[in-house]
Amino acid sequence: MCGIFGCVLREGKAAPIIHQALKRLEYRGYDSVGVATIYDGRLQIKKDSGCVDDVHKKLDLNDLNGMIGIGHTRWATHGAPLMINAHPHTDCEGKIAVVHNGILENYSDLKAELLVRGHLFASRTDTEVVPHLIEDYMKQGFAFLDGVRETVKRLEGSYALAIIYANEPDKIVCARSQSPIVIGASDIDSCVSSDIPTVLPLTNKILDVQNGELGILTANTLNLVRISDGTPIQRDLRTITWDVELAQKQGYPHFMLKEIHEQPRCLEDAMRLQRRYIDLITTFLDRSREIYLLACGTSYNACLAAAYMFSNLCNLSTHPIIASEFIEQYGNAVNIESTILAVSQSGETADILHAIDHARFKAATILGLTNTIGSTLTRVSRAYVCQQSGPEIGVAATKTFTSQLLVLAQLALSLAEVRGKVSQERIDEFEVKLNEITHISETVINTQEEKVKAVVEKYRTAKCFYFLGRGINTATALEGRLKLLELAYVPSIAYPAGESKHGPISLIQEGFPAIFVCPKNETRKALIGNIMEMKARGAKIIAVLDEEDQEVKNLVDDYFEIPTGIPEILSPIPYVIPLQLFAYYMALARNCDPDKPKNLAKSVTVL
Ligand code: G6P
Repeated sequence: MCGIFGCVLREGKAAPIIHQALKRLEYRGYDSVGVATIYDGRLQIKKDSGCVDDVHKKLDLNDLNGMIGIGHTRWATHGAPLMINAHPHTDCEGKIAVVHNGILENYSDLKAELLVRGHLFASRTDTEVVPHLIEDYMKQGFAFLDGVRETVKRLEGSYALAIIYANEPDKIVCARSQSPIVIGASDIDSCVSSDIPTVLPLTNKILDVQNGELGILTANTLNLVRISDGTPIQRDLRTITWDVELAQKQGYPHFMLKEIHEQPRCLEDAMRLQRRYIDLITTFLDRSREIYLLACGTSYNACLAAAYMFSNLCNLSTHPIIASEFIEQYGNAVNIESTILAVSQSGETADILHAIDHARFKAATILGLTNTIGSTLTRVSRAYVCQQSGPEIGVAATKTFTSQLLVLAQLALSLAEVRGKVSQERIDEFEVKLNEITHISETVINTQEEKVKAVVEKYRTAKCFYFLGRGINTATALEGRLKLLELAYVPSIAYPAGESKHGPISLIQEGFPAIFVCPKNETRKALIGNIMEMKARGAKIIAVLDEEDQEVKNLVDDYFEIPTGIPEILSPIPYVIPLQLFAYYMALARNCDPDKPKNLAKSVTVL
């Protein structure tokens, strides 16, 4: 996730406006910053690695002339967070400048084609193919605008682009597929941005750009056309009435709720990982004698689910382990034949880095799954993969958890393929379901949120909850419990359901709420037995269940429904969503701020 901004003025300097806008966009990434303006028929560019303030201190981002410009703040995906990879990127002649938010899936093919045609590349980014491709089309005789349109027609993946051309200094061209972009219009200027809050200090008149559309902005005019055929689109400006703070949350009252709703898009991005990262990690996993899945908090729950994935798909046993326990439990056992797959959203959790230090000392191979390129975890790992969820602001992890699960499922599938543990038919079926998971998650959010609110009303004063599941959904139950206790401060207990008869069931009395994660799979029969045990002792049963499971619906007091037909190893992704929403609305019902849980931090950098 990156932030892009551009503006074209009738008078004055664009650079200070872009600089201020990039400050507001910094929550979208701060690996590097760059600004390009056009002055005197030439591009002027300043860019470097680091956050906006640091780069401004070094380069003075306001000190660029020109009434038109574009800027970028980067969250690295392709290419390390170095100056050379900072946007804007340009063509060979340095006349076309491009900023981009998104991931171009077919950039290697396009780059290979452009290299053959003599284009020279300065960076390792996917973005750089865009200015070169435009240049190429213009060399073939296309006008600038048509060259842009032909170029974006060939891009696969996600993009929000803003483009300027030194020979046409009156306009910014922008284009959209999947990544967000809005145009703002005031009496004296026009701007384009990744989000509405950044536009609000300039104007509250917004023109939405939809997928498949291209916008052309001058200081006085705004035009939208279809990318496919160039036909004009008529759309009215809308007036935004939010204040800036509400706008940062895109109209949601809390970042947590915004991030829960962002999950379908993040899952889509997690499906766009570059194959070579997955392949590299798979190679390391394949050759290791034993695999430890190392993490803390929510990331540990993802590791627990991953252990079931590797077992189910690859017939491989792994050791999920809470990082702070690693040295005591496995410190002596780990050796040169061990592999550690460390899972950490931030890549900076001290418990994990400490455990990794020990494992490196014992010559183990370190692999990483993180959301933060450039983090310590990426530096100490032999190979790592970035989940590409974009910054998560809510302290409680939500979107990063489901994306971790999806990346881990892809790794398990890839290892299963390499080891010949699954049939081609099963792989094909599984791939279809992987691609459906975005839509399924969207359906769950859209259909279950109101139900969750109603169930919260019934149980808002409960003193304690059980969260129970079996198999891989033990991890889902643990994550549901973690969300509820960290956000709504309700003491809660989570166990594999089969374990309740060995102790926890003694707490059950009339009205005690027990939440069961109950997909239609092989564990369901046993889970129904556990539901009956609890019911017989007066528990109130809430289930997250398959929408077609009438039998369980008849047994329970309340339920949340998940679309049918999800393979077991992907089930935690949609099944955890109602539990995230449950924790969020319980927090509200109990007057707790879900974005600022007491005593917790987003990234814990102390042991
Ligand atoms: C903290 C956060 C949790 C997070 C855990 C691990 O406790 O509050 O939300 O799951 O750290 O963080 P990591 O960045 O390593 O995934």
